Amino acid sequence: MIEARKITKFFSIVNEDRTAEGLTAVLSVSLKIPDGMIVSILGPSGCGKSTFLEILAGLQAPTEGSVYIDGVQVLEPLPATRREMEEYRRKYQFLSPLANGVFRDRPKHDIAMIFQDYAVFPWMTALQNVIFPLKLRGMPRERREGHAIGFLKKAGLGDSLNKYPSQLSGGMRQRLALARALAVEPKIILMDEPFAAVDTITRERLQDDLLRLWKETGITIVLVTHDTDEALYLSDEIVIFSPHPGSVRNRFAVSAPRPRRRSDSELLSLKGRIESLFKYDIDHESEYSI
Ligand SMILES: Nc1ncnc2c1ncn2[C@@H]1O[C@H](COP(=O)(O)OP(=O)(O)O)[C@@H](O)[C@H]1O
Ligand SMILES: [Mg+2]
Repeated sequence: MIEARKITKFFSIVNEDRTAEGLTAVLSVSLKIPDGMIVSILGPSGCGKSTFLEILAGLQAPTEGSVYIDGVQVLEPLPATRREMEEYRRKYQFLSPLANGVFRDRPKHDIAMIFQDYAVFPWMTALQNVIFPLKLRGMPRERREGHAIGFLKKAGLGDSLNKYPSQLSGGMRQRLALARALAVEPKIILMDEPFAAVDTITRERLQDDLLRLWKETGITIVLVTHDTDEALYLSDEIVIFSPHPGSVRNRFAVSAPRPRRRSDSELLSLKGRIESLFKYDIDHESEYSI
């Protein structure tokens, strides 16, 4: 279970003329996501979706509130390389011994994150890309290759093991990112607009691939998207965010059984309701602006 308790994120921005401004990117968002569910966070750009997802992953610290996974608080990820370790020491050297103790003993959470822009290493082959995080996580050398090949096959890349990302199509690169994330066998995958950069046909195929892999692995998926159809097709629940400040606007359960038809009547009627919410917000936008 992922539990976000009253997450608020405030940014202060210093302008070129040295005046300062504040911006509340996320305001008091509370959310519980049970294991094994697919939950989408849907909203227009700028409503704090990425910020919220990165807070769930521990990549950003919230200004207020906290995130718990299975009852254990999420803090920044542990450093993985020597350079990160040095940065980490520098950052926390002035903390009290108590706080240092808290940071030293914190557990690792089983989270993988996938971004829109195919975060795979261009200088590594598909196989090397999947092996790399296994190495970081301490999997014994002799098990890595077989394990990685298994996940590449599951993602439909069995014939492309030795290709470099530049030799793969956009859809294949995103499947590689998915294989790499799943290979470490996380309990949770956080996805930030993962299919936004590919064409519609490829996107729909990737959605089906994702559902198949989700069924096989039973992981929890939190998906950020601005695509209402994508959220409807994939999710057990849709959380609508609205901007100024980023906050939860509505939540909809999607109970249509899987495999779903994109033209399912429940999906279409929910789509109508969601679109009228967005339209309402756009029509009343001037009321929010400062
Ligand atoms: N590091 C940052 N510093 C200042 N403002 C930021 C920062 N990151 C995001 N923001 C602002 O916070 C708001 C929400 O951003 P973001 O979470 O990226 O929204 P979304 O993913 O929904 O498009 C935006 O107004 C954005 O400009
Ligand atoms: Mg974003």
